[in-house]
Amino acid sequence: MKILFLDQSGKPGGAELCLIDIAKPYQNNCLVGLFNGGSFKDLLEKNQIPVQVLTNKAIQVKKESSLTQGIASITQLAPLITKVVKIARNYDLIYANTQKALVVGAIASFFSRRLLVFHLHDILSPEHFSQTNRRIAVYCANRASLVIANSQASKKAFIEAGGKADKVEIVYNGFDPQTYINKESEIKQIRQQLELDDKFIVGHFSRLAPWKGQHILIEALAKCPPDVAVILVGDALFGEQDYVKQLHQQIDALQLQNRVKFLGFRHDIPLLMAACNLVAHTSTSPEPFGRVIVEAMLSGTPVVAAASGGAVELVEPGINGFLTTPGNPQELTEVINSCIQDKQKTAAIAQTARNSASQRFHVVNINQQIAQLLT
Ligand code: UDP
Ligand code: GLC
Repeated sequence: MKILFLDQSGKPGGAELCLIDIAKPYQNNCLVGLFNGGSFKDLLEKNQIPVQVLTNKAIQVKKESSLTQGIASITQLAPLITKVVKIARNYDLIYANTQKALVVGAIASFFSRRLLVFHLHDILSPEHFSQTNRRIAVYCANRASLVIANSQASKKAFIEAGGKADKVEIVYNGFDPQTYINKESEIKQIRQQLELDDKFIVGHFSRLAPWKGQHILIEALAKCPPDVAVILVGDALFGEQDYVKQLHQQIDALQLQNRVKFLGFRHDIPLLMAACNLVAHTSTSPEPFGRVIVEAMLSGTPVVAAASGGAVELVEPGINGFLTTPGNPQELTEVINSCIQDKQKTAAIAQTARNSASQRFHVVNINQQIAQLLT
């Protein structure tokens, strides 16, 4: 099976990191076509996955675009589509990993007569996407032979937006548990490097964006004991500079400058997670899947997540983690405090999470599920 993967992003968001694991087994028989250059391309090359940037022109569709803008941007895509049609003739299948990739992939699959698969990483709800964008996505996805949804929540929203139920299969993201095993000495060292070795570290691992809710954690921190510190790991990947400014203002106003560290985008997530006493996920809108939640479990660090979207499929409160009401800093403060107070119970929960996540999300099992669906 020869696969042409398509992804619009040059930056490594969760959907792109997931694609690395999916494309790896096909590395001798695939090409990843990107609509933007950037560090995602470098990561694919590092993983020996063939990659080509297919256009240098920015694609203008925004999450909130109108119908006229939507149609106008599709006509702008003509040169890219022509290129994809030509390349696709050398492959058996087009695998679209993002929504703009889906639009290009759907048209190219029609002209090249190649099968189309769509990996749905988003919740197609009004909270996340305009009506026009939902309509375009659903129209194109209904022409695919298969839609792989990253959670029940994403599947449900897809069907509610008009997607055909019989096309959808749920496949969670896969992870290699080995990657999340760290040496005690390295964990100690990084805590020292962060100058937080005597603190209770709460880690937030996500791009800086309003709906990822870093501000909720900051608000919760203000009510926590002084030996609690926060690390914010991630960057504003899609130009959310105003939000970054807002976070700094909030931290200044609450006088938390000495207790919050911005680490920017990092490639040593497993070690940083292991260095934390708790990982907090605080999305204020439903999270389609939430890779960081599973990664925290695999790192052996307790995790608290916002109870919405895919997160509730991953976390069983009190068994393998904790849940809070999205947007509720008080509940988050309570969870942080109870983790500080009841270390033994918290450690047992983290251990249960590590054991179950290692099986449930093992990349080998997940890749088998995908291989079966593609045959
Ligand atoms: N991540 C990373 N470096 C960072 C921050 C995040 O590699 O500095 C990774 C993180 O480990 C996770 C992904 O980015 O695998 C984010 O995926 P998630 O599904 O949590 O959210 P998304 O950003 O895709 O909505
Ligand atoms: C998207 C979603 C995220 C999910 C990731 C991988 O980026 O926002 O929730 O974990 O895709 O499927």
